[in-house]
Amino acid sequence: MEALKFAPRITHNMSNITFTMIKPDAVANGHTGKIIDQILEAGFTLQALKYVHLSRETAENFYGIHRERSFFGELVDFMTSGPIVAAVLVKENAVADFRNLIGATDPAKAAEGTIRNRFAKSIEANAIHGSDSDENAAGEASFFFSAFERF
Ligand code: RTP
Ligand code: MG
Repeated sequence: MEALKFAPRITHNMSNITFTMIKPDAVANGHTGKIIDQILEAGFTLQALKYVHLSRETAENFYGIHRERSFFGELVDFMTSGPIVAAVLVKENAVADFRNLIGATDPAKAAEGTIRNRFAKSIEANAIHGSDSDENAAGEASFFFSAFERF
């Protein structure tokens, strides 16, 4: 009998993917389309995409590294306040290039034209998430997406 073949069409390596979420403020304010357009215009391609409302448990697990920080409860409240759009993005140097595209955590400090400069209101309601390392990008992408949802 022929062996079962498992061949997910994943073409990334550790250094050319990043994970993003368009946060509840940006989704609720109707900025989803403009943000995805800016991401694609900047040369990223989509490997995976979904529109979901995080449960408290999922948000707490996702942000587990921030559990001891003073803003953890507010961060989880905020990230569960409405639906988000999650995506895996592909580009050479994806993590660093995407952090440059989204701008500083505090939108008041985000460079002109960055996604947070254009669409974020505050350090909490800051429109978008971007992974901060290749290792975290890989972990966050597989936290949200199975192999069958990535191509
Ligand atoms: P993100 O993970 O969402 O891309 O943001 P980041 O790397 O720029 O910032 P990080 O330090 O990882 O913090 C995660 C999210 O927590 C909220 N935050 N609130 N109140 C505060 O002082 C504070 N600091 C951070 C932000 O929503 C930040 O994006
Ligand atoms: Mg971060």
